[in-house]
Amino acid sequence: MIKTNKLLRIVVPAISYIVFALFDLLDMFLCLCHSFIDGLKEKNTNPCYCCKRKSVHGESNEDKLSETLYDRKNIFRDLGFPKLAKESEEEEGSAAGFLMVKNRWSDCNCESCLSWQKFEDHNLHSARENVIFLHGFVSSSHLWTENVFHNLSESGNQNCRLFAMDLLGFGKSPKPNNCLYTIKDHLEMVEKSVISQFELGSFHLVAHSMGCIIALGLASKYQKSVKSLTLIAPPYFPASSKGQASLNALNMIAERKLWPPLSFCSSIMSGYEHLGRSICFVVCKHHRTWEWLLKLITRRRELPCMLLDLTKHTHHSAWHTMHNVLCGGAKLMDGYIEAVSSSEIMLTVFQGDKDGVVPVECSHNIKLKVPSAEIRIIPNANHSSLILNRKEVFTRELEHIWFSSAEKYNQEDTK
Ligand SMILES: *[C@@H]1O[C@H](CO)[C@@H](O)[C@H](O)[C@H]1NC(C)=O
Ligand SMILES: *[C@@H]1O[C@H](CO)[C@@H](O)[C@H](O)[C@H]1NC(C)=O
Repeated sequence: MIKTNKLLRIVVPAISYIVFALFDLLDMFLCLCHSFIDGLKEKNTNPCYCCKRKSVHGESNEDKLSETLYDRKNIFRDLGFPKLAKESEEEEGSAAGFLMVKNRWSDCNCESCLSWQKFEDHNLHSARENVIFLHGFVSSSHLWTENVFHNLSESGNQNCRLFAMDLLGFGKSPKPNNCLYTIKDHLEMVEKSVISQFELGSFHLVAHSMGCIIALGLASKYQKSVKSLTLIAPPYFPASSKGQASLNALNMIAERKLWPPLSFCSSIMSGYEHLGRSICFVVCKHHRTWEWLLKLITRRRELPCMLLDLTKHTHHSAWHTMHNVLCGGAKLMDGYIEAVSSSEIMLTVFQGDKDGVVPVECSHNIKLKVPSAEIRIIPNANHSSLILNRKEVFTRELEHIWFSSAEKYNQEDTK
């Protein structure tokens, strides 16, 4: 028994090393293929991140971009193997040289995927409490409309105006290819499509997972307008040193592991630009075919929204959001949290103690930074079940937070 354990401890890492080395090689090969097809199909090609970052002169996006885009691990690149594909432009590899490609050949062009190009009419009644909901990575507003909106109480229905938006690049939101999906881009999108469009003077924020980074950014910017901030499983990884924050976050979110499957998938999608693009080409571009097939196999007329949301993005939008928000956001989080801590905003954090995506330490780390925050660890709940398996309780908890913080906020106001 002991011998088998010892053997496993040697064999498993060795297998994992070999598998990921093969992926490293495959990604370099796909880089060559993509560069070739891009050259044929697209006039202006979006550069990839396979070469090391070059310094750019003058104004650049560099500070907003995550180091993880360029400094991802690749055994062969690290050994000094050259990039296989030829570089077409002087400035390739730099954000400043980013070019516009409206729809890439590897993205889906169906009506639903391009629906953001049409204007949507909003017709909303006025109410006292405005609430903005932000979803996590490869999710959509369905998370809230399906699980919270249906369970609102009578008084919640009368007094709250709920805004669940799809984040830039996900669900039915715009998925521009000339955007690098930085935190600034995401913040501006929320401002433009909700805060200024509906002239919100004050609001509550509720965010899940990656959405928490954007919510913290908003709260630190609108300290006087935010009545309450509710973070659900926030990915907050304090860095040992400033420069390493993004790479540390990448390692926490997507460690190169074969097991469990979720870790494996995230390590593939975040570590391999060209492998990820190929997977999106097969899955996201052809999502209607897959949906049809799945319905046929499972004999269901409707598939769960959560499953469909996994394909509602382009590789460009998911790849950049993963790196520039989830990883790159790590270096901004401390500043955001300090701003929230010094404000009057009522902060509540929810997390499941069985969360396999974001470690529970993240919530405790926030408590260390914001002593007044209320941390609620839900027993036997994971990253999603802490909402999905307790919809009604969760909605009541949210309503309680909104109404009690509004009371406090209004008192401060009249003082
Ligand atoms: C809560 O929402 C679910 C759908 O997500 C619905 O089936 C259920 O009836 C709702 N409960 C209440 C009390 O409204
Ligand atoms: C979370 O827990 C639920 C049941 O409580 C389970 O069905 C689901 O697969 C779990 N999700 C993950 C990512 O572990």
